[in-house]
Amino acid sequence: MYLDQEVMSCMSTRITKEIRILRKDMKHIIIITGAGKGIGKAVAIDFAKASKREPDFEPHLILVSRTLGDLETVATQCRSCGATAEVFQADIANMSQIDQLVSGTLERHGAIDCLINNAGVGRFKPFTEVTEEDYEYTMATNLKGTFFLTQKVFPVMEKKRSGHIFFITSIAAETAFKSSSLYSMSKFGQKGFLEAIRLYAKSCNVRITNVMPGAVHTPMWGEVPDEMKAVMMIPEDISSPLVNAYLLPQRTSVEELVLRPVSGDLNE
Ligand SMILES: NC(=O)c1ccc[n+]([C@@H]2O[C@H](COP(=O)([O-])OP(=O)(O)OC[C@H]3O[C@@H](n4cnc5c(N)ncnc54)[C@H](OP(=O)(O)O)[C@@H]3O)[C@@H](O)[C@H]2O)c1
Repeated sequence: MYLDQEVMSCMSTRITKEIRILRKDMKHIIIITGAGKGIGKAVAIDFAKASKREPDFEPHLILVSRTLGDLETVATQCRSCGATAEVFQADIANMSQIDQLVSGTLERHGAIDCLINNAGVGRFKPFTEVTEEDYEYTMATNLKGTFFLTQKVFPVMEKKRSGHIFFITSIAAETAFKSSSLYSMSKFGQKGFLEAIRLYAKSCNVRITNVMPGAVHTPMWGEVPDEMKAVMMIPEDISSPLVNAYLLPQRTSVEELVLRPVSGDLNE
């Protein structure tokens, strides 16, 4: 069969365009809150590492927390694993900063494929000693920040009819411990919220995963005795199944990941 020059050039333009569209789709725009330390940092690095073993997976990581220095260190590590990464210094408890995060991401990339709601704080003390300031501080990040960031990101995924939102809640989202009244209250709240939005998400192909870890050795715990450290999980124990859940085909949703130290909860 003979194809003249004009048809050939037309076909090649179309093929190049299609390849470009495919390439664009292969970029996964992933926002990770609390990416400077602990579990969030491990999630960022594990996504970056996955880009090496999964040929079609090109993550672009948007690393968020309040401490720029931490984020820059993590971004450098992610880039050295082959992913692209940018940092965004923000307090998720601040509405205008989450507005800027979402609008800036959309202006630069036109999409958000994955949101990891990981940023969280805990103040652990007997319930009679909890102050109003402890209350406001915990709820501002764990509930208000998580709620409104998700509220701003969800419509982007709904419109595209694809996306994945992870919530790093906790075992404390369904089991109470004496010293964690406030923390548990916020984590039970996150669980209630994510279960409600799953009802919206199902009809538009968006996956919602509740990640419920037990004790993980991270900066959140401060100094811990060696015998306690010995039984705790490490951040990579959480990030590895999370990244695997994201990489499953879009038709499959891992709705819950419950991860505990093999010896059980630390403060039964
Ligand atoms: N470690 C555990 O045993 C455990 C168990 C179950 C669930 N979790 C949950 O897992 C998540 C991560 O915990 P982690 O142990 O990795 O904690 P972490 O080591 O203290 O790290 C928390 C990260 O979140 C950031 N962050 C906190 N508040 C923020 C805010 N308002 N805006 C933006 N970033 C904020 C922190 O950075 P900046 O302070 O610089 O902002 C930091 O990068 C939390 O939601 C926690 O509740 C932890």
